[in-house]
Amino acid sequence: MTTASSSLIDIAAVSQIYAGRDGTPTWALRDVSLQIGKGEFVCLIGPSGCGKTTLLQLIAGFLGPTRGSVTFHGRPITAPGPERGVVFQDYALFAWMTAMQNVEFGLRMRGDARSRRRDLARDALARVGLAHAADKYPHELSGGMRQRVAVARALVVEPEVLLMDEPFAAVDAMTRQTLQEDLLRLWRETGVSVVFVTHNIDEAAFLAQRVVVMGAHPGTIKADLTIDAPYPRNRAAADFSTLYATISGRLAETERRAA
Ligand SMILES: Nc1ncnc2c1ncn2[C@@H]1O[C@H](COP(=O)(O)OP(=O)(O)OP(=O)(O)O)[C@@H](O)[C@H]1O
Ligand SMILES: [Mg+2]
Repeated sequence: MTTASSSLIDIAAVSQIYAGRDGTPTWALRDVSLQIGKGEFVCLIGPSGCGKTTLLQLIAGFLGPTRGSVTFHGRPITAPGPERGVVFQDYALFAWMTAMQNVEFGLRMRGDARSRRRDLARDALARVGLAHAADKYPHELSGGMRQRVAVARALVVEPEVLLMDEPFAAVDAMTRQTLQEDLLRLWRETGVSVVFVTHNIDEAAFLAQRVVVMGAHPGTIKADLTIDAPYPRNRAAADFSTLYATISGRLAETERRAA
């Protein structure tokens, strides 16, 4: 195998072209290359329409690239798989299933026996702080709790990468910070890689080891910033403001160029 052992996901010269209804093509991504290593925490940030969701869908296997290749451990991604867990903002839980049943779903799909499913799902719910809510239905849970269930559901099958598309965008600021802290803890505990899409500079600065800044029309990568600030990061510290300003500056550049 020629792939470097540290590269888990390899996006090579990918273009994604959607055919518009009137026949005009949209270049959601143009010639995008990106490698993501095992255990990395990468944030994708960029203006609306720059192809962030498209990129995640390619890694998830919901879409195949128009051009280029997307590989996982050096093998082309052709379909969704349990080694790539997904938490999307609107990737709703099953409304007719309890939190526990939602978390058990993936385990049932892979054929785990009932008692093992119970044990693993209970453990996953406990890890996201929802041991007490196992028997509640989604409509009985707050937005933050629902996203915790979604995280537990994705993590319970022990994926190698967690693909997250603005997962905390719809919750209030305080809940969002708690969810971010919990996610960092789970990331450390499990060693899972995380690819996290956000519009929020503060969120990227708080979470990421790498911030990939994208630009739109066509969707491209404008900057790949390595963030070596240690965890946990302190929003009140001066270097956090510097980090925020760096990301913000790069984003502003891409938006100015687009305008
Ligand atoms: N199924 C589709 N058919 C046609 N065009 C699409 C489709 N999905 C996305 N697009 C277009 O591709 C481009 C990239 O969309 P994408 O959803 O990946 O962007 P995004 O960065 O996730 O945006 P946002 O921040 O608003 O979520 C946009 O111009 C969008 O209109
Ligand atoms: Mg999107």
